[in-house]
Order: sequence, then structure tokens, then C-alpha cells
Amino acid sequence: MEKVINESIQGCSTSLIGHNNNIKKLYIESYGCQMNFSDSEIVASILRKEGFNTTSKLKEADLVLVNTCSIRDKAEQTIRKRLEKFNSIKQINPKMKVGVLGCMAERLKSKLLDEEKIVDLVVGPDAYKDLPNLVSQLDAGNSAVNVLLSKVETYADIDPERLNTNGVTAFVSITRGCDNMCTFCVVPFTRGRERSRNPISIIKEINDLWEKGYKEITLLGQNVDSYLWYGGGLKKDYSKASSIQKASALRFSDLLELCAKEQPKMRFRFSTSNPQDMSIDVIKNMAKYDNICNHIHLPVQSGSDDILKAMNRQHTREEYLNLVKDIKKHLPNCTISHDMICGFPNESEKDHQDTLDLMENIKYSFGYMFTYSERPGTAAARKLKDNIPVSVKKRRLSEVIELQQRHSSERNKEFFGQVTEVLIEKTSKKSDFEWAGRNPQNMMVVFPKKYFKPGDLVQVKINDYTSATLKGVAIGYSKNN
Ligand code: SAH
Ligand code: F3S
Repeated sequence: MEKVINESIQGCSTSLIGHNNNIKKLYIESYGCQMNFSDSEIVASILRKEGFNTTSKLKEADLVLVNTCSIRDKAEQTIRKRLEKFNSIKQINPKMKVGVLGCMAERLKSKLLDEEKIVDLVVGPDAYKDLPNLVSQLDAGNSAVNVLLSKVETYADIDPERLNTNGVTAFVSITRGCDNMCTFCVVPFTRGRERSRNPISIIKEINDLWEKGYKEITLLGQNVDSYLWYGGGLKKDYSKASSIQKASALRFSDLLELCAKEQPKMRFRFSTSNPQDMSIDVIKNMAKYDNICNHIHLPVQSGSDDILKAMNRQHTREEYLNLVKDIKKHLPNCTISHDMICGFPNESEKDHQDTLDLMENIKYSFGYMFTYSERPGTAAARKLKDNIPVSVKKRRLSEVIELQQRHSSERNKEFFGQVTEVLIEKTSKKSDFEWAGRNPQNMMVVFPKKYFKPGDLVQVKINDYTSATLKGVAIGYSKNN
């Protein structure tokens, strides 16, 4: 199973990268969401200017940075184990410095330095531009911390160093932070208020990537559909913006159109869509432009109205189902995926059945499923008792995963015998003789290599499937190649 994963897998994804010809060596590990992996590319770019090259060899590192995730307790535990490991290496190599970036840095702040004494450097997600200064404090023998959050998009002018890249697909951040305040979620606390990035700098980054040979972009944000550019600043300050700014404001649907037109041969994806912010204009523009991929990651978290309300998700089950109907009406070939939380406080068996029933109704193509993990400081932690026993949470999670596996197989079966367009990304994990790539619906497709190469858009006839992968044979280049 690749897509139907549980929390332990999503919380542990890491990337280790290497270049070898520089004075100082940076070893960077990333955990958690795609945004963290994308931010690590910004960090590597900032530190390159300070004389650091990335290395994949931990033992030769002068600086070890861990870009951390706080979304669930398990993610933090995994990272703590890594920090212990780095500390043991420091005993042998005292000149090595260890820093924590990202959400755990923001959540625990200088506690990691002062009380726990496990790191030398703590940098929150909006403070990476201060790294040159912070690193010089380390050089002077001090520890260093900056966890200030920003009210503007911080990194628009930085050209990220693409790490661990396949040279074909890349992430481009378009919003930072989140104003939604779902009661279970730590992100608004660790990543701050929502801000959108200047579209001119987004288009510039996309054009640069095209020049470098990239063929597919995923526009990234905690909540991309809420993108709004009216000259900068916080999303919520829009109410104070002048009427001229309001008239010329650019919404997510406009940005998508701008991207699709700017690079008509490039494929575009986006993640994540909070259902409450997804507009019909986004769906219509997906239908209008062939190069916007037909897949929507549409986390719902629960199928029960009571739980959705307690989670402060700003939509009902019925509104969600209507949104899915609209998607299917305008985009009949669009796949939909989800995130689901099992065992939120007070979740009854009936609520859980509502979740299974919603899944049965929609038959998602894939999903990311988790047990509820109480996060300190969130509204749920302050107001609700984490009262579902672990065994019940786990049982419900396994029922949700099992159902999703069945639906994934059914959805993949729909491709059987069909010809689908695949962008070749890399050699398949299972065989050196096969390529792997995704079709517009975001399904992984594997097929014999023949004379094709990474970056080619090919037509593949599907002749086999599992719940995670489609298999087939390439029958020629796509007309869009
Ligand atoms: N912005 C996205 C979610 C980002 S967090 C949205 O609109 O929904 C990624 C996923 O982690 C969430 O969708 C949720 O399913 C899960 N998650 C977040 N906080 C969690 C918690 N406290 N316990 C368990 N899962 C959680
Ligand atoms: Fe978290 Fe809800 Fe925002 S899940 S990232 S607060 S949309």
C-alpha cells in the first residue's frame, strides 16, 4: 500500500541529500507535510550563500538540521528519537551543531534549548531568513533561537535549492499559515496567520522551473483554496483593504488560471483544499484547462455532523456531499482523496458509522487516516476530554483503513483496459526495468521502460492493478508531450 497509509508512515517520511564540494557541510532531514520538504529547500538555498553544501553523510556534517512536524504526538516522538541519536554523535564530534526547524521549534520554543538541552539552534517556520545571523551566533559559541512568526509571506524572493529531486516534479508554496482554527489542529499555532504570496513571484518560480526542465508543479499551502492576493498582508485584513485593492484581488481560481495559461505544457496540481474554501470557480477552471490535473485532496476528517461541528470544520456533511456532486458534475474523471481522524473526543459508534457511510457514498480513490492525537494548546485539548480509549480509536481506524483499501481497489479497477496519460517521474521501486509516474488523477502507474525517459508524457494502457498502483504498457507519446 502506498497511498493508504497510517500516521506512522506519514509522520516519518525523511529526505537526505548530498553535494560534496564545499567548505561547510549541512545535513538536513525533513518530516511531516510537503510544506516542510519545500521549506527545507528554502533553508538549503539560504545556507548555501553562507558556504554550506548539503551532504547525505551525517558523520561529516558541521550542521545538522531537522525540519520537524508537530501534527501528532507520534511525529514528535519520532523526531525526539532522532535528536537523541544526533546528540550521541555529537559526543564523538563536538564541533557538530544540531538545530530544530519547523513546527516543533515553534511549539516548544527555547524549551528545547534551556530545559531539555538537546539542541544548539531553534528556528521557527517564519524565521529562516535569520539563519545567517543565527549560524554566526553558533560560530561564536552560543546557542541561538528565533521563533518569531510573520504577518507577510517571508520567502517569495528565495530560489529554493531543489533537494532529492527527480527533475520532473516540484512544489511551489503559495500560502503560509492557516486561519481556520480546526479545534484538533496545532498548525495555526505553529505556522501562524494565513498569508498569500505575490503571484508575480509564483509565476517567476514556475517559469524558472520550466526552463530547468520541470514538467509538473504542485501549488502548496495548508489551505490553498483560501489564497487571496490583494497586495500582501494577512488574509483577514482584506476587510480593511481599499475598494481598488478589492476589485483587483486575485483568488485561487484566478491564480490557477494564470498558471495554466502561463505554462500550457506544464501540469499543475494543488494541495490541500479545505472543503469550506473550495469554490465552484476552481472546479470550473479545472474543467477549462487540460493541464490542471483532475485530482482533489479534500480532507473531511469525519462523516458526522456533530463531530464536524466540534472540530470547527465550517461545513456540514450535506454541504460536503454537495461539493463532491459539483466536482463530479463538472469533472466526471476527477479523483477525490481524503484525510480522516478516528476517535475525536465524544465520537460515538454512530458517528463512526456516519464516517464509514460517507466513505461508502463517495468511494474515495485514496486517503490518509489517523487516530486522534490531542495537541497541547488547541481548543479541543482545552475544552474536550480525550475520552475515546486507545483500543477503540485503533479499531475504528482499522475499519476505516480496511474500507479505504476496498474502495481504492474498486477505483483503480475503473482504469482497467483504459488508456491513461502518465508523466514519467522515476524508475519504479520494484523493478529497474519499469518506469513509475502519475496520471492526472494522481494514481501511480508502473510500466516497462522501452525507449521512454523521465519527463516524457506517455499514453499507457492499463492491464493490471492493486489498491495502490496501476500497471500497464506504454503505447506511445501523449499529444501533450
Ligand atoms: N489543511 C488541511 C489539513 C492539514 S493537517 C485541511 O484542510 O484539512 C493534515 C492532516 O493531519 C489533517 O487533515 C488531519 O487529518 C490530520 N491531523 C491534524 N491534526 C491532528 C490531530 N490532532 N490528530 C490526528 N490527526 C490530525
Ligand atoms: Fe489545520 Fe484546519 Fe488549517 S486542519 S491546517 S486548522 S484547515
